[in-house]
Amino acid sequence: MLERNIFKLSENVCWVGVRDWNRRIFDALIPLPKGTSYNAYLIIGSKGKALIDTVNPGFEKDLESNIRFIISPEEIDYVIMNHAEPDHAGAIPHIMSIAPKSKLVATARGAKMAQIYYHVPSDRIKIVVDNEVISLGDKSLQFIEAPMLHWPETMFTYLKEDGILFPCDFFGAHLAGGFYSDEIEDYIIHAQRYWGEIMMPFRSMAQRALEKISGLNIKIIAPSHGPIHRKPEIILDAYKRWAVGETRRKAVIAYVSMWGSTDMMVKQMAEVLMAEEIEVVIHNLTVSDIGDLVKDLVDSRAVVLGAPTVLGGAHPLSIYLSYLFRALRPPTKFAVILGSYGWGGGAIKQIQDMIKDIKIEVVSALEINGPPTEEDMRKICNIGRSLAKKIKEEN
Ligand SMILES: Cc1cc2nc3c(=O)[nH]c(=O)nc-3n(C[C@H](O)[C@H](O)[C@H](O)COP(=O)(O)O)c2cc1C
Ligand SMILES: [Fe+2]
Ligand SMILES: [Fe+2]
Repeated sequence: MLERNIFKLSENVCWVGVRDWNRRIFDALIPLPKGTSYNAYLIIGSKGKALIDTVNPGFEKDLESNIRFIISPEEIDYVIMNHAEPDHAGAIPHIMSIAPKSKLVATARGAKMAQIYYHVPSDRIKIVVDNEVISLGDKSLQFIEAPMLHWPETMFTYLKEDGILFPCDFFGAHLAGGFYSDEIEDYIIHAQRYWGEIMMPFRSMAQRALEKISGLNIKIIAPSHGPIHRKPEIILDAYKRWAVGETRRKAVIAYVSMWGSTDMMVKQMAEVLMAEEIEVVIHNLTVSDIGDLVKDLVDSRAVVLGAPTVLGGAHPLSIYLSYLFRALRPPTKFAVILGSYGWGGGAIKQIQDMIKDIKIEVVSALEINGPPTEEDMRKICNIGRSLAKKIKEEN
């Protein structure tokens, strides 16, 4: 540690980010129960100085003062933009105005976005291609294109001499607190939640990136959200599992119920599955944290959707979930759809239609009239048993 809140990752590599303890929502969608951080890093080479990523708008001055603890911003030669999203690039205009000789380093796509979002003039942008290296004298930065992790323009930066990978959003977690991931007891749960929300839709791109970096000698992974990995194998192993879509003997039950009928159906289903030794997680969509639910989808082999009929279709919360499910592309193999209706029904068909073009086997869909009868409960037990059998047969 140098002074105050400036941490050294290795010689002449400093964390200059900020912690957003009170942020509670991201992308106007994802709850952040533990806040988040915007990590930026300053690298001081014998012949050049680089800032890797910046911070969310509103924190420009905090970043500036962290930099000033170490050097004058005027000394910065390069502002590396791994990713153009405002949580990392939002302070670029401010930093480049106080670092007048600095050039923005980005991929070709990043350069375009920097012009559109941040009005960076083209003569202040240096475009880099995959594997290109910029020398800072005794330190050199290699750029690795990593499209869609998280946006199309994204790249990783690898500091060769120190073996530090700066992958921006990849390998991150929304946690304001902590410095090293191995010091945080439930770190992997937060990383899994983050993976589900941000990286899961891009599993094939993630696999490609993991392959690309497999030849590097990585000692530290320094992402742009949450703690730093000084034991990189832990997060690398988790990412390998999540990227290939390894699932467990686990089912997520996500449902909504207005008057308790669908509630009875899904709870019966939960009992059967648990009796069959399947791990079950229930999320009632009226109260559930959507990030928690998504975390469970990362490694669940099955999903049970419970949707009553409202105004001729599925309850809006079930529609929302089905939409999210399609968009996030979890590796879930099997689905069961359950619901209750009062007169004409329609929920089940609507949910089936919404998920029909995704690769998932709908094991059964049951729509019942009113509260479930003994006969209905027996049907649910049978459906549960066949679902459990499928879950157990699949590895
Ligand atoms: C606001 C509202 C709208 C409804 N619209 C329909 C409908 O269009 N078609 C239908 O078959 N049932 C409709 N129902 C009846 C419910 O589907 C029925 O009560 C069902 O058993 C509710 O299941 P739940 O107890 O799991 O909420 C509606 C109920 C409510 C409260
Ligand atoms: Fe992002
Ligand atoms: Fe981010």
